[in-house]
Amino acid sequence: MGASLVGLRDLSAERITALLDHASDLRTRVAGGEARLGVLAGKAVALLFLEPSTRTRFSFEMATHRLGAEVLAFSAASSSTTKGESLADTTRVLASIGADAVVIRHAAVGAPHRLEKVLSIPVINAGDGINEHPTQALLDLLTLRDHLGCLEGKTVAIVGDLRHSRVARSNCFGLTALGARVLLAGPGTLCPPELEGLGAERCHTLDDVLPHADAVMMLRIQRERAGPGTLPSDAEYRRFWGLTGARAARLRAGAVVMHPAPMNRGVEIDDEVADGPRSVIFEQMANGVFVRMAALMEALS
Ligand code: CP
Repeated sequence: MGASLVGLRDLSAERITALLDHASDLRTRVAGGEARLGVLAGKAVALLFLEPSTRTRFSFEMATHRLGAEVLAFSAASSSTTKGESLADTTRVLASIGADAVVIRHAAVGAPHRLEKVLSIPVINAGDGINEHPTQALLDLLTLRDHLGCLEGKTVAIVGDLRHSRVARSNCFGLTALGARVLLAGPGTLCPPELEGLGAERCHTLDDVLPHADAVMMLRIQRERAGPGTLPSDAEYRRFWGLTGARAARLRAGAVVMHPAPMNRGVEIDDEVADGPRSVIFEQMANGVFVRMAALMEALS
């Protein structure tokens, strides 16, 4: 069986680098005119998205098409999950009818890890609750490598709603594995102490981190995951933690601005920064297709 990808927590620097190198090679081939590689012809990939998604879902679809495999698309609302069928049984059905791999997004922390134990086909995590989003971190690492070169010794600031961010957790694992320094900054109520245990350093204001960062990764404030009354108002959040044009001007020459998106424009990031010359946000999205192609090939080749 090919390799599952449930998180970056246990991935070695060598495996992360191999995935990034493979994604970069696939990007070169596609740019050279190989729109359809056909290397996974005859395979089928089940996309099981039980939380909303635009980028991750469509880039997995595009990656699957580019590799010549079939997409088995799943719609929770019209499936037998509405009759109470369990996640494990649903995925066993998909494997029984011929899926060769499952890509899953689920609100429950650890859902892909549990499936990996019961399924006989590889599982790729497309985001599990507040835990991990490994392919997002891989596309972030690829984008950072494109702009900064080797990440050893580079400083990356991750800013905002760290408590609810699976993107921040996967990036902490990936960045520290590759030797980068990670600075974490956000409101006290949104900075869980366990993230500092992942080899990252806590900073107390956004203004403290900006002059030191080679890249600043802004996070979406996740109101849908927070309890009522636990988050500041949008205006207050922007005042202390928003990346405004004035703040972005304090970044080093060559520093880049990232965001996993979707963005709350005018809250954690202003339009002039999101669409400005330092922004690599839409490059991140484009790179998503190539890291997902690499992950699918590792799972299915
Ligand atoms: N960054 C990200 O995971 O976006 P989607 O929720 O749109 O997939």
